Amino acid sequence: MTTEKLLMTPGPTMLPPSVLEVMRRQIIHHRTKDFEQTLDALQQGLKHVYGTKQVVITLASSGSGAMEACVSNLFSVNDKVLAVSIGNFGDRFAKIAQCFGLDVIRLDYEWGKAAVKEDIKAILDKEKDIKGILITHNETSTGVSNDIKAISELTRDTDILLCVDAISALGGLEMRFDEWGIDCVVAGSQKALMAPPGLGFIALSEKAWNAAKSSNIPKFYFDLKKYKAGIEGLGANPPYTPAITTMMAQAEALKLIMEEGLENIYERHRRLALATQKGVKALGLELLPDEKDSSYIITAVRAPEGINIKNVINRMNNEFDIMITGGQGKLKGNIFRIGHCGYCSGTDIIKTFSALEICLEKEGYKFESGMAVKAIQNELRGERI
Ligand SMILES: Cc1ncc(COP(=O)(O)O)c(C=O)c1O
Repeated sequence: MTTEKLLMTPGPTMLPPSVLEVMRRQIIHHRTKDFEQTLDALQQGLKHVYGTKQVVITLASSGSGAMEACVSNLFSVNDKVLAVSIGNFGDRFAKIAQCFGLDVIRLDYEWGKAAVKEDIKAILDKEKDIKGILITHNETSTGVSNDIKAISELTRDTDILLCVDAISALGGLEMRFDEWGIDCVVAGSQKALMAPPGLGFIALSEKAWNAAKSSNIPKFYFDLKKYKAGIEGLGANPPYTPAITTMMAQAEALKLIMEEGLENIYERHRRLALATQKGVKALGLELLPDEKDSSYIITAVRAPEGINIKNVINRMNNEFDIMITGGQGKLKGNIFRIGHCGYCSGTDIIKTFSALEICLEKEGYKFESGMAVKAIQNELRGERI
């Protein structure tokens, strides 16, 4: 018998029952009062999660579309930007900027390390004409989070635009867009925001909207000014046919997020990550990042010496219907990753490690059986997380 797959991946993530329920409803038209209510709920919910008074634009694209919209709306050809990369998605932001003809200076870190504020400062001190910084909040490929709050101190009182890819972070890690003085945050529906894939989100600061006025990069579908005018105009007026059902699903997920409360959600993510780290250590395995940089969204673990980690991942999927994932790019075959964001509980972590122990054992890894589950039980004992 096969059971429902449990996705312990960094997106798409599992969907709450009421979100699934919304998606089976008959379609509604987007130029109606009914859809206006969805747009309003979406706008209020997203503003709350972003921590902003600015409009948050919803695009019918995955998160990468919002990254592209950030680059093509805020900058002009030959503008100098600093792309800070700690992994695969940092690289993607840099590539998008190169693709649109920006002059990209790179600050690259070894995969598994977090960005260091002083390194960024040193570059800003030297290169006086940098127009923007592109950086990842949570680097999904390496399980490392950057300290965006600290980095924002470098740009908030300057003309430099701080652009943050929070695609896997938003809804799981603290974000205070206005308070921290961030200029652009992009996000996606399919991770901590507990909705299906297909929506990209983007908010701009006043400073960024001003910069957008002089951008000379050609754009049409992703011209954010049109979306802003649609939101600020009378009634529901998205410029193109929106992804109606997915937006309704996201509005429902945001309702659940507001009910649980952001502080409680951040704490749940932290506790699930710590439980996962305990399980990893009890197996005698090593995290890829330093513990202090290890993400609360996804845990990256070094593959044990001499064990074919792909087989372990396949066994998890085929024998237990639990999906975890391997490494990307240069980390392929060297790590595995367990996602624990969005609609995820302590029970899911216990299930995952129960199965992981068996799969590792079958692939010949030697450890004291039961220790990981025990460590997680101890960590979560008596709490409903
Ligand atoms: C940090 C980060 N940036 C960008 C992306 C790309 O997003 P999408 O696949 O939604 O285009 C992802 C997806 O995993 C991500 O985790």
